[in-house]
Amino acid sequence: MKKPLRLVVLLSGDGSIFEAIVEAIEAQRLNAEILMVMSDNPNAYGLTRARLHNLNTHTINVKEYSDTNAFQRALKEALVTLKPDFIVLSGFMRILAADIIQAFPKRILNIHPSLLPQYPGLHTHERVLAAGDKKHGTTVHFVDEGLDSGPIIAQRELTILPEDTAESLQQRVKELEKVLYPEVLQRLADRL
Ligand code: GAR
Repeated sequence: MKKPLRLVVLLSGDGSIFEAIVEAIEAQRLNAEILMVMSDNPNAYGLTRARLHNLNTHTINVKEYSDTNAFQRALKEALVTLKPDFIVLSGFMRILAADIIQAFPKRILNIHPSLLPQYPGLHTHERVLAAGDKKHGTTVHFVDEGLDSGPIIAQRELTILPEDTAESLQQRVKELEKVLYPEVLQRLADRL
């Protein structure tokens, strides 16, 4: 049996995709362990989900630091100490400092709700609708120093329906993400 992938998860909000990763581990579809769930937001529901699964949590509240550099330094220190195989961004809504990215080359993954390279940044569901696109989806990619620009690992797409709204697309994309992210991580676990 291969060693489980050692993961640290970073999230800012609801954490539903993170919970799908946890469920894949619990169902033994994903050979991984979550060392820590970290958040920049003390009120993130993802932290509650983590505690309900008896996972370690750590909040680095940006408001408690004198500036973003001090916040990023604290984040880096925590990540370096944990020595994860991969850092998994799952709805983490901050840009990581360049020296964090350089400390973990090809070791930081992100899931982004669009078919990158289309629609990096925010409000992707609104933007595909405004553009009249026929396809939408999600991308897992390695994080580099650009905005949602690192090498793409995998994508899943859906066909936009006439009745779709930004909210329905958000939900439908999340359903794809709940399957895709654990699958990608398992591929990395096989490789390690
Ligand atoms: C996911 O749809 C993810 O793709 C997106 O946030 C959502 C998190 O959902 N990520 C980004 O927009 C990153 N820029 P969750 O909090 O329910 O897991």
